[in-house]
Amino acid sequence: MPGSLLNAALSAREYAFASFSHFKVGAALEDADGRIHTGCNVENATYGLTMCAERVAVFKAISEGARKFRRIAIAADTETLTPPCGACRQILWEFCGDLEITLVNPRGKTETHRLKDLFPKPFDVSYL
Ligand code: THU
Repeated sequence: MPGSLLNAALSAREYAFASFSHFKVGAALEDADGRIHTGCNVENATYGLTMCAERVAVFKAISEGARKFRRIAIAADTETLTPPCGACRQILWEFCGDLEITLVNPRGKTETHRLKDLFPKPFDVSYL
């Protein structure tokens, strides 16, 4: 995982709009052309309409024409590194396939996974 992608996720985290949970997350998604699409979590007063950093990054990328992806970095300030939630695993699977996922914290601790290991037996368009 390139350091630049980890740094992009850590920087994106600074923009997190997490007034309610105070739990800031950043994501940086690299597409097949090497472009980096960033996202942060965005909360609102309903709580339930919160959008995670990973899905912001995916939807920004899709909305700008990107269709193939290489890897994603996800940053949060936890010692046990923060993995993507279930909703984000579904969206990452459908739009990005078996991504390389690196979790990182501000002290530089990292851990790398494949999405298929974090999200076995996914439901997707192949069933429709
Ligand atoms: N959050 C993310 O942005 N990504 C994750 O994978 C886990 C959770 C956000 C959602 C909410 O704003 C805050 O973290 C606490 O759940």
